[in-house]
Amino acid sequence: MDREKARERIARLRAEIRHHDFLYYVRDAPEISDAAYDKLYRELVSLEEQFPDLVEPDSPTQRVAGQPLTSFPTVEHAAPMLSLDSDASEASLRRFDERLRKALPDVEVEYVLEPKLDGASVELVYEDGVLARASTRGDGRRGEGITENVRTIQAVPLRLRTEAPHPVPPFLSLRGEAIMHASVFDKLNERLIAEGKEPFANPRNVAAGALRQLDPQQTASKPLDLFAYDVLSAGESAQIPGIETQWEVLQALKEWGLRVSSLVRKVKTLEEILEYHQDLEARRDDLGFEIDGIVIKLNDLAARDRVGWTSRHPRWAFAFKFPPRKEITRILSIVPSVGRSGVVTPVALMLPVELGGVTVSRATLHNREEVARKDVREGDRVRIQRAGDVIPQVVERIVEPEREAEREKEPRWQMPATCPSCGTPLIERGPFTICPNGFECPAQLVGRIVHLASRDALDIEGLGDETAKLFVNEGLVRQLPDVFDLRAEQLVHLEGFAEKSSKKLEEALRKASKVELPRLLHGLGIPEVGVAVARDLSRHFGTFERIRTADAAALQEVAGVGPRMAEAITTFFRDEKNAPILDELLKRLDVQEQSAAPPASVLPLSGKKFVFTGGLAQMSRRDAQNLVESLGAKATGSVSKSTDYVVVGEDAGSKADDARTLGVTTLDEEGFLDLLRSLGAAV
Ligand code: IVH
Repeated sequence: MDREKARERIARLRAEIRHHDFLYYVRDAPEISDAAYDKLYRELVSLEEQFPDLVEPDSPTQRVAGQPLTSFPTVEHAAPMLSLDSDASEASLRRFDERLRKALPDVEVEYVLEPKLDGASVELVYEDGVLARASTRGDGRRGEGITENVRTIQAVPLRLRTEAPHPVPPFLSLRGEAIMHASVFDKLNERLIAEGKEPFANPRNVAAGALRQLDPQQTASKPLDLFAYDVLSAGESAQIPGIETQWEVLQALKEWGLRVSSLVRKVKTLEEILEYHQDLEARRDDLGFEIDGIVIKLNDLAARDRVGWTSRHPRWAFAFKFPPRKEITRILSIVPSVGRSGVVTPVALMLPVELGGVTVSRATLHNREEVARKDVREGDRVRIQRAGDVIPQVVERIVEPEREAEREKEPRWQMPATCPSCGTPLIERGPFTICPNGFECPAQLVGRIVHLASRDALDIEGLGDETAKLFVNEGLVRQLPDVFDLRAEQLVHLEGFAEKSSKKLEEALRKASKVELPRLLHGLGIPEVGVAVARDLSRHFGTFERIRTADAAALQEVAGVGPRMAEAITTFFRDEKNAPILDELLKRLDVQEQSAAPPASVLPLSGKKFVFTGGLAQMSRRDAQNLVESLGAKATGSVSKSTDYVVVGEDAGSKADDARTLGVTTLDEEGFLDLLRSLGAAV
């Protein structure tokens, strides 16, 4: 084919492929088979190979760039990417509706209802209809430039359709949610499990992680989808000429070629909102992707401008979240489970039940006092719940009148007197029960190996729970450092190992032995020391030896380390059982130490005081406290005038009232997480 002919054919093929992308991703109504589409695509690839100078950056073939980046550029958003006011209570929804109607007495209020997609929020900027850049939400004002990664998402058009009824503004900044479909997520996790790797906790984490890969090939290997739901800016004018409502925004987005959820609705009354919420909640597990509530948006854009924004979120929108997923099942038995820190947790083994697309057969009963308080016994029917990624928990027992008499004859569940793993007498600390045998207890050793090998620590592929148990049970690993002495020749005889997998694990161990200081510090599983604290300690002290020998006062110089944490750290390092193990471990590792770091006062929450009350769904209160402390704040126990924030969780006590009386800012969990995210914390 001559060049001119090729040019024409290439243009034709690109137009056809874009048209079919539109039919497939936006209209959800493809007109040709996958095979026919592939044929067009392959013809284009082949022509572009023959005439490389005819390749254009927005050609459908140019999704995956060749070169990995070394870091992401910082990108200023065209307009702030604020978050939504959100809550799961109907009362809050009613207040939102009432407030709006009161503020707009002359407007016939109409709402657009959308699913609240549980993914990662991104900004897309189109210049003259061509995708120019994409960025993560970051702190809301600035995010990371992830253009190359977003280009790999098939549902994101590289060029918008210009023949749409509304002209595409020369500058257009959009907001949407990158998500991973459940089917893709399940396959990915199945593969990880088969490879002996740790599965991901939820699709949101994978989506956010995939967008932040420096190598776009990596992003492309974790296929994402993207739904658009908002125009952030249309250049000079914030709004697009001729578009007056959110509904029209969504239609225009679709016509331009972006994917918009087919679940969106337009309604007028509170009852319709409640119905939509109920309906989506009922269908939640069948949608094929995660949603965690609905978003209610005032339809009229001019009316939106009238009600405006608070500093954090618009007054014209509200996220009405779903309550945690609950299910009913029966407890078969209650077993004590020894964690890596020696805490013995009563775990309910239950008749398997499906909870949010996952089959659940274990739930935590937290500690012996919880078991007593809920009076849960083996054989009981119970309600369990799962919120976010946390382990399912037993909420309450369901009384079955016909079983009561017989049940009363059965003994209550008791924590055993000795450790189920090593037989050491257990000790009680508050409501908790602890095996004091440390690294010598096989269950704790297994837990510690798994933790040391986990993704945020040494990230050792192929060393999960089953494998660690096998090594300990076979006597190959008697102490943590032994892990690094394992050789392929020893592994190859073990069940589940073959020559290749044995070599692979040996190689993974060798690689992992070169470790950055914060990862090692986190991996040791020192009580209270999470990823953020490990990072701050490493930055402050620079070397492992300095952290190990620091006294409590020196440790507390690190912003975020309070007396309790300092004590936990010194206790860990002073423990005479731990010391020789650490020495041996260090002999086998090549620790990449750090240079000391910025002063504490530059931490984003320096000087702020937090009080937490009630339970959080996404993390334990302790983790939340650690997190704000690692960002420079102090977490205190009681509310006073000098408190900056009171974080109010489920079943909060009087502290929430104190906050209101004293006029202290309160945050619900979502608000708290938003605050953390806006500071760049990975939550
Ligand atoms: S609108 C200013 N619509 O929920 C309003 N957000 O805090 C901007 N989200 O960060 C958000 N689905 O990532 C909007 N249909 C939807 C959404 C949605 C999910 C996310 C978004 C935002 C968070 C709310």
